[in-house]
Amino acid sequence: MALEVFHKDETLQMRRKLIGQSCRLFFSHDPVKIVRARGQYLYDENGMQYLDCISNVQHVGHCHPSITQAAAAQMDLLNSNTRFLHDNIVLYADRLAATLPKKLCVFYFVNSGSEANDLALRLARQYTRHQDVIVLDHAYHGHLTSLIDISPYKFRKLEGQKEWVHVAPLPDTYHGIYREDHPDPGQAYADTVKSLIEEAHKKGRKISSFFAESLPSVGGQIIFPTGYCKRVAEYVREAGGVYVADEIQTGFGRVGSHFWAFQLQGEDFCPDIVTMGKPIGNGHPIACVATTEEIAAAFTANGVEYFNTFGGNPVSCAIGLAVLDVLEKEDLGGNAVRVGGHLKQLLLQLQTKHPLIGDVRGVGLFIGMELVKDRASRKPATEEAAHLVRRLKEERIVISTDGPWDSVIKFKPPMCFSIEDAERVSTCIDQILRVISTYNKCYTHATHLIEYFLNKT
Ligand SMILES: Cc1ncc(COP(=O)(O)O)c(C=O)c1O
Repeated sequence: MALEVFHKDETLQMRRKLIGQSCRLFFSHDPVKIVRARGQYLYDENGMQYLDCISNVQHVGHCHPSITQAAAAQMDLLNSNTRFLHDNIVLYADRLAATLPKKLCVFYFVNSGSEANDLALRLARQYTRHQDVIVLDHAYHGHLTSLIDISPYKFRKLEGQKEWVHVAPLPDTYHGIYREDHPDPGQAYADTVKSLIEEAHKKGRKISSFFAESLPSVGGQIIFPTGYCKRVAEYVREAGGVYVADEIQTGFGRVGSHFWAFQLQGEDFCPDIVTMGKPIGNGHPIACVATTEEIAAAFTANGVEYFNTFGGNPVSCAIGLAVLDVLEKEDLGGNAVRVGGHLKQLLLQLQTKHPLIGDVRGVGLFIGMELVKDRASRKPATEEAAHLVRRLKEERIVISTDGPWDSVIKFKPPMCFSIEDAERVSTCIDQILRVISTYNKCYTHATHLIEYFLNKT
């Protein structure tokens, strides 16, 4: 199969002309054209290999042969309308149920994370008969109109906040209102949600749901303080609402020690609705909502059929099953613990050498390294983070930034990432940061000299 139809420049020109310019490219100043991939490696049109630290969607590795075979075999046999009876959908729902607490036992299959969150919103509203939603600051939950409304990351740049949306502070113990020196940041941040509920009640509003990623990713790879989710769930349920855990980036073993990131909060916490996407189909568009019998029953009771043409079709479910098989057979959860743990240690070692690294946080293969101008003020080092990403690309490592100031270098590679990959990335970061620090020292020195001579004259 030909890897390219057009020369790179022509592809870029055609894309600029034909594709909406709000659909942005990675490295827009100098985009990479990727024509094939395997495992954790991407290859450009010249056969140049890039180490992929970005693709959390290609969860078990790019073009994994087991996934390709499962998809092709089912495609060759049948891909029917989801209203026909078929084994794959029930087999798959049964396998997912085994990964979740017993109470989350009813499934709806959809095609994208956005569809999953939109359906979660409908389920919550139907069950509670309430309208309002509490979300975390800087959150992103999808691109549908309903989800832009509950995504501060987006609505702040658009028409703003709807009256039915309430924004709680991000429980970020590095930058937030309660930090690592607080005796109980989990409780303190949960109390901010309680206050929001009370304010909403005073205005006669009623809470349908609290939506949060189990580890806020767009917010900057934030790890919730202990006890936060459990307390929030209690407050939200007391107000008649439900807890929706968005596991679209964090599910399917990414955190290593657990299959779902919400499980990091302990066995006594269980959401009422869990939404899944990205890694679920290793790149194939499938997503899912898991909920309780009671919530599903309320949704059924409205008398309106939920029909989704592609959601849960035999091919999607065959792929979903193959992803679960590979995760198990290749012990990719274990790999996330080992390799993610090693990577985090390497980055922590770099932090001792480079003042630019303010914080290293994360679990499994979900790690953030935050750059700061200086550790005392924690002022985000946005330009330095952008420079590091650009330089890593020149070293054939693709990585991205996130967080409110784009100052967090975000590691979310395919789960087959190896110890050698982790060491290569950390060595490159070390070298690049050394150069940045020498440059910064020379710059500061030169500035002082200029100031000195200007004052003298
Ligand atoms: C946390 C989270 N929720 C929802 C979505 C929306 O998923 P999709 O792009 O598949 O619609 C995204 C996508 O980036 C996401 O990161």
